[in-house]
Amino acid sequence: MMQRALISQPRSLHTAIIMDGNGRWAAARGLPRGYGHKAGGDAVRRVVQAAAELGLGTLTLYAFSGDNWQRPEREVSSLMRLFHSYLLSETEKCASHGIKLNVIGRRDRLSPPLIEAVRRAEVITSRGSALQLNIAIDYSSRDSIINAARLIADASFSREAFSRAVADAMNLKGPSSDVDLLIRTGGEQRLSDFMLWESAYAELYFTDKMWPDFERADLEIALRSFQARERRFGRLPEAAAI
Ligand code: IPE
Ligand code: IPE
Ligand code: MG
Repeated sequence: MMQRALISQPRSLHTAIIMDGNGRWAAARGLPRGYGHKAGGDAVRRVVQAAAELGLGTLTLYAFSGDNWQRPEREVSSLMRLFHSYLLSETEKCASHGIKLNVIGRRDRLSPPLIEAVRRAEVITSRGSALQLNIAIDYSSRDSIINAARLIADASFSREAFSRAVADAMNLKGPSSDVDLLIRTGGEQRLSDFMLWESAYAELYFTDKMWPDFERADLEIALRSFQARERRFGRLPEAAAI
């Protein structure tokens, strides 16, 4: 009922979120940054549940960028521990709610136990059809484009073939990897190497809210904003195209 009022055809929608602001959320409370990441994990659980209830087709969450390896080792390892514990605690829940979990990004720099947890989560949730949940870990959009170019070493490839190769290169499954709505929390207005190819016609939505404060209501506000926009894809608006 809610989802029909909120957005038409939610199933075909690809929403992507750059979950930013965990560190500043913690600093504002006089807490170490790790507390912000932990609170960010709770926000992920809330937003995934809301996305499944709203019937959104695909949700892609940017959890760790290729450049985030440059952070202090202590912060990186606490984030890796969080990803691992998220997978351990959420895999069965995702499976029982029909959420199909897929991790995109490089795997070779993750620890073997984390790689195994990812593999297990993907197998156990593989039959889910209520929500496609992509979590981007060690993700770089530029790397994914380079990998796609390597896959298609053929000068005559089409745009569609390249688009499929970009999706395949990062294990991004689904009928289309194009992003419809791209949300970034935390007040910054940049893409930070996220979904550069897939966001060619994405509607951008920026909010000053720090990621740990992001609630279901904030997702609904972003979806309403998306719903009110006119997407043109380079064409003229309907009314003017006579
Ligand atoms: C986003 O929050 C989470 C990751 C990048 C892993 P940040 O850690 O970037 O938080 P800020 O931007 O420093 O507040
Ligand atoms: C982007 O946030 C990466 C994630 C949210 C996972 P960053 O905080 O790393 O981006 P910059 O450094 O502000 O561009
Ligand atoms: Mg940040």
